[in-house]
Amino acid sequence: MRTLIRNGRVVTAVDDYVADILIESETISVIGRSLDIEADVVIDAAGKLVIPGGIDPHTHMELPFGGTQSSDDFFTGTRAAAFGGTTTIIDFAVQNKGETLTQGLDNWHKKADGKCAIDYGFHLITTEFEDGDEHEMKSVMDRGVTSFKLFMAYPGVFLADDATIFRAMSAAGTRGGLICMHAENGIVINEIIKRFLADGRTAPKYHALTRPTIAEAEGVHRAIRIAEMAESPVYIVHLSCKDALDQIREARDRGISAFAETCPQYLFHSIEDYGEDFSGARFVMTPPLREKHNHADLWTGLKMDDLQVISTDHCPFCMKEQKELGIDDFSKIPNGAPGVENRMALIYHGGVVENRISLNRFVELTSTAAAKMFGLFPKKGTIAVGSDADIVVFDPNGETKFGIENEHMNVDYSSYEGWELKGRVETVIQRGNVVIQNGEHKGAAGDGQFLKRGTCVSF
Ligand code: URP
Ligand code: ZN
Ligand code: ZN
Repeated sequence: MRTLIRNGRVVTAVDDYVADILIESETISVIGRSLDIEADVVIDAAGKLVIPGGIDPHTHMELPFGGTQSSDDFFTGTRAAAFGGTTTIIDFAVQNKGETLTQGLDNWHKKADGKCAIDYGFHLITTEFEDGDEHEMKSVMDRGVTSFKLFMAYPGVFLADDATIFRAMSAAGTRGGLICMHAENGIVINEIIKRFLADGRTAPKYHALTRPTIAEAEGVHRAIRIAEMAESPVYIVHLSCKDALDQIREARDRGISAFAETCPQYLFHSIEDYGEDFSGARFVMTPPLREKHNHADLWTGLKMDDLQVISTDHCPFCMKEQKELGIDDFSKIPNGAPGVENRMALIYHGGVVENRISLNRFVELTSTAAAKMFGLFPKKGTIAVGSDADIVVFDPNGETKFGIENEHMNVDYSSYEGWELKGRVETVIQRGNVVIQNGEHKGAAGDGQFLKRGTCVSF
């Protein structure tokens, strides 16, 4: 099948020009001016941006967590991603304590197989890693899972001690693997939580007050220093504040391979959103929302490449029955929020429309950088001859109306209810197939393929 996208403004991380794009089967085969070629499908993109499909390298579909499970499954979550202009996710598989890395990965394949609406890869949450487990790491890397998430938070669930972190980083470092770190001092945080609960401070806002920015900064600092000793790169996930960003900047200025992502919630929301009552549970996520003054620092970090990627940390739980598990105790509220559908429109508006980043940088932060960081480039993350035809036709003059009426994530609230922002995802093409058009999903469960990823090329 041949698809021709005519007269669009093609924007990649480095290019910006008007052209026609011919897609043959799943890949881009010709880019040129006024192409005189017959096609089965012709899309008029005059006046529109034609950008690479978004890559969201941080999602949690069907994650058992906090006594329940995140409410999007691999179909509903990936379909919602497509509606929002994201054509690839990298989800976090889990090695539960007592399991091998291989068992964790096998379990996630069973959950996702035949369900995804867009292409997907996995990182592997690593809760245990002993000397001698290097062959396990090699084996999952050979299966295309080249990045591993370790946690300094959630004692008793996911937390890995410094010895485990050092062993895993050493093993990853010698094989070209990448350790992704949830950097927060969970041990100290737990002590603070105990004090708050003993004082009867149980409302959602105390989730934020028990997780100070210095607990995150300490985690980032420790992660970087352990990575240096292990001679390994490190990628900090969901970085939320200036204190933590300062640690990244300091390390990068010394030439250390320290990378980090932030997420829209830390750019658009703040600690005030918790309010006083239980409705603040919708923003209970870790790290928590921070003071507003952090927004400007994070945007500067994105502009100056101290932050390389914007992901979502999509981990939705319904208010009803799920967040309500913590109605009397904020520490029992399942941590996480929806967002996989919202990212591209939010960052276009907050970044490009509001003049904080260029259009090229918008593409880089939402697609290209993740492709390079996680071994998918140039198959994904750009518009070039030979690349997968994952393309979004984006209307810069359209409008996105946020809210559960218009969104497709399987959750009973939107973090951006009632917001109306400039810019709209119009048509989404995944490997040559139109999957979103006129506000409708044209694809099916199972359209998405598992991506065997290579290693990071961001150094
Ligand atoms: O609150 C969050 N972030 N939930 C998802 C799990 C994680 O730590 O990324
Ligand atoms: Zn995390
Ligand atoms: Zn996460």
